[in-house]
Amino acid sequence: MSLFNPEKSSILQDPKWLQPLSDPPGGKPLCRDADLKLIARHIADVFSSGQARNLFIYGQPGMGKTVCVRHVLSEVDKHASETNNPIQTVYVNAGKTRTPYCTMAEIVKQLGVNVPSAGVVKLPERVLSKLHPVLMYVAPYIREGTTQLLRELVERAIKPNTVADKMLTIIAKTANDAGDIRFGFRILLTATMLADKVRRKMIEAGDIASAAEDENRVRKLKVYETLRDQLLKLKKKHQKDQAWNGKEFLYRSLL
Ligand SMILES: Nc1ncnc2c1ncn2[C@@H]1O[C@H](COP(=O)(O)OP(=O)(O)O)[C@@H](O)[C@H]1O
Ligand SMILES: [Mg+2]
Repeated sequence: MSLFNPEKSSILQDPKWLQPLSDPPGGKPLCRDADLKLIARHIADVFSSGQARNLFIYGQPGMGKTVCVRHVLSEVDKHASETNNPIQTVYVNAGKTRTPYCTMAEIVKQLGVNVPSAGVVKLPERVLSKLHPVLMYVAPYIREGTTQLLRELVERAIKPNTVADKMLTIIAKTANDAGDIRFGFRILLTATMLADKVRRKMIEAGDIASAAEDENRVRKLKVYETLRDQLLKLKKKHQKDQAWNGKEFLYRSLL
């Protein structure tokens, strides 16, 4: 048998629903109606006056900010075409553009205007003052929200009767405590692998506990990596500073 043709899982049916960039089930973000309405209210003027306020949406990772924004953008497209409004939406992942200038250049390019991709590093002050945004905080899910979200995704990702409701509640609690819904997705995927390994057809509490332990190990590694990056930056900054030479041993033991 090929190395890339492993045995089929007796629990998973469509794992794409548990991937961090999966679309929301049913095409609409769950448990975020109030947030969706608030975003829509802030940009609704664009349909009447062509002008809208800028919104800066913030909150912890995995709270559904991106899925909400993408959903509202698709609704804007839909409403614009239904009302013959020549509004265009663009989506740019600012995590992939290197500077605010590149982000702005990407937006403008997607609108069909040619601008240089590089050369200018900073946005002029007058552009920044025009961008002045209204802030919007996306709060963490309450436990019921996390459980509902997980249940909807599990129904699609996992075969029926393989994850008992009690297990789902434990995963939702773990994800809530971690403050990131994606933690729940990963635990579920790892727990599935663990059960599959011993050819069990249901996930048990022990699988979830082991999966959560693995996840916590990965989280600690990430904290360590962030610390290491910060130290490397500090080291670079202070390389020529004599007063920092004595700290060298600390860098070495940590890097
Ligand atoms: N309200 C929601 N409805 C459906 N899926 C969600 C929701 N919130 C989070 N998700 C799932 O979690 C993943 C991470 O959400 P995302 O929008 O990228 O979070 P953020 O942008 O806040 O970091 C999404 O790809 C989706 O699978
Ligand atoms: Mg995001």
